[in-house]
Amino acid sequence: MPMYVVTPGQQKGGVGKTTVTANLAVIAGETGLRTLAVDLDPQSHLTFSFGQETPPQGFSVGELLNDSVSPKPSFREVVLRSVAPSVDLLPGDERALVRAEHDIALDALTGMTRLRKLLDSVKDDYDICFIDTPPKVEGLAVVAMVASDGIIIITEPQTLAYTSTTVYAAKVAQVRNSLNPNLKTLGVLLNKSGDGEEARFILDKLRETGLHIFKTAIPVNRYASKASLGGVPTALIDRNRDIGRIYRAVGDELADLLRGITDEADLEVASR
Ligand SMILES: Nc1ncnc2c1ncn2[C@@H]1O[C@H](COP(=O)(O)OP(=O)(O)OP(=O)(O)O)[C@@H](O)[C@H]1O
Ligand SMILES: [Mg+2]
Repeated sequence: MPMYVVTPGQQKGGVGKTTVTANLAVIAGETGLRTLAVDLDPQSHLTFSFGQETPPQGFSVGELLNDSVSPKPSFREVVLRSVAPSVDLLPGDERALVRAEHDIALDALTGMTRLRKLLDSVKDDYDICFIDTPPKVEGLAVVAMVASDGIIIITEPQTLAYTSTTVYAAKVAQVRNSLNPNLKTLGVLLNKSGDGEEARFILDKLRETGLHIFKTAIPVNRYASKASLGGVPTALIDRNRDIGRIYRAVGDELADLLRGITDEADLEVASR
């Protein structure tokens, strides 16, 4: 199967998109999948999460997506190899990504498909790709939806996060109905979960949406922020403790969902 592209997204800031993206990439790499992580957020937090600087002299994914950059670097010149076992990273850079977003907006005809084309060009080199996006439902966040096969909506058990979840899910549906008919919402993943009244209320509300909800919820844990500080994703440093096991359980659920999708595709081919 060619590379499957997943975006763990959400409109609301700070819900844990980057933390989840980094950990899922590490876990995918650990299971032997050739993994590409893409930092599409000008904040470049995914790049920092892997202990990398935004490119000091080099290039970022921003230049790869900006047609007004000349000469344009190649994927090989930008990608950082083995930032974790079997994980390569297309690093982000604030200025380059802001410029790229602007340049994409000027290209009404093909701007939104630039990342998809870029990822298509390496689809035989990787099994899975994770894209980290800014907290919004326009610009680069939509560029990522157009380039993705599956979306995991990351949310916190809070009323405001629930509202943004519905806005984000509606945007995914809009992109599916226009630019990317194959786009699937894989499910909603609860991060920073607790067992308070608000958390239970939000979980009930999420169930009413009919969206798949990951069985595993990620609890509030201090290792998440420690890992952000140290530039090593939690799943790497906390392999055997509870939180490491929880991220791996999310990885297993994702693998099951993807197996289901592959089986479905095989059945479709077989029935033709
Ligand atoms: N399960 C968790 N428990 C405790 N802290 C967490 C957890 N997950 C993430 N965090 C912390 O919450 C903060 C926000 O996380 P993160 O940067 O991953 O969110 P984000 O959705 O990517 O934010 P942004 O919208 O700014 O991109 C970070 O300090 C991170 O360390
Ligand atoms: Mg982030």
